[in-house]
Amino acid sequence: MAMYGKIEHACHYAPENIVDNYDLSKIMDTSDGWIRTRTGIVKRHISTSENTSDLATKVARKLLLETNTSSDEIDFIIVATMTPDFMSPSTACLVGGNIGAGKAFAFDINGACAGFIFALAVGEKLIRSGYKAGLVIGSEVLSKTLNWEDRSTAVLFGDGAGGVLLKASDTPHIICEKLQSDGTRGSSIVALEEKVKNPFANNKEENNHFLTMNGKEVFDFATRDVPKNMIEVLDLAGVGIDQIDYILLHQANLRIIDRISRKIKADREKFLINIDEYGNTSAATIPILLSENIANKTLKIGDGSKLLLTGFGGGLNWGSIYLIL
Ligand code: ACO
Repeated sequence: MAMYGKIEHACHYAPENIVDNYDLSKIMDTSDGWIRTRTGIVKRHISTSENTSDLATKVARKLLLETNTSSDEIDFIIVATMTPDFMSPSTACLVGGNIGAGKAFAFDINGACAGFIFALAVGEKLIRSGYKAGLVIGSEVLSKTLNWEDRSTAVLFGDGAGGVLLKASDTPHIICEKLQSDGTRGSSIVALEEKVKNPFANNKEENNHFLTMNGKEVFDFATRDVPKNMIEVLDLAGVGIDQIDYILLHQANLRIIDRISRKIKADREKFLINIDEYGNTSAATIPILLSENIANKTLKIGDGSKLLLTGFGGGLNWGSIYLIL
């Protein structure tokens, strides 16, 4: 019998340390008014010690505990992140070691703010190919990539993680996806540069480890390419926007969410929002939204509600998944 990936549960975790806009205004030339009106962000969680694998491990442990699943049942672990602890071992391998998932294979996906959407699409394909259970987690400690003297980026991002337990089901839930990338526009968001440096290379240039972003380019991309992608995935599924119950759009900027809701002619109330609490946590925004709204009972797994999940960001990468909960 054909099997399909089903989201069994979602959990999230964010570092305890909360930094609000007033805190930032003490260390850089910014204000609560500017940040709120331009972005909708009120505060963000900023790690003081935990790294990306620590946040992801907390999510993985919660997922296992709250679903009464043993780590031995997990076949694969995928972590979407653009801020791994190391390039090797991968964040996903660290998580697998921490939770004792002895039989799981594990790998990271770097799709920046679209990373969780890419990872969920891949995880669903793994279940369709015969694996029974997997963890798909988006985890980021973006604070380690930020230039805290650059007010144009430092105020936008936060740290956090969220993820789902995917299990095999005999009915389709994750119905279709539309994933896209455009490397020709990659310079719009750049982070953690690693130039070739070795005794044989004649390279005197320094690496720029900080995240840099052309905000206007990204804003234009988000409000032009992303709404098209959202409509295209619904067309693939043969579903109209009016039939969608909730939209989980990457939390980058409230003005982007407002603009996209008008472009796709979707009721603004359908967009789940938590950017005020977390800022932009890149690959973690969508699973954190999912987890919070399952916890507060807005979303109920198994009730058949129709969701549109959309991520966009560095790469450039963007993509949507249409799923039935
Ligand atoms: N506080 C106070 N003033 C500021 C701040 C700040 N934190 N940041 C910039 N300003 C100033 C600028 O210097 C500028 O001043 P000037 O007019 O004297 O030159 C003024 O505010 C306006 O700056 P803009 O950059 O034009 O502001 P804008 O309204 O475009 O908002 C923003 C900037 C919020 C970054 C917006 O362009 C945006 O949201 N872009 C998209 C970001 C995004 O979606 N990122 C997601 C992907 S990230 C990823 O993939 C990792």
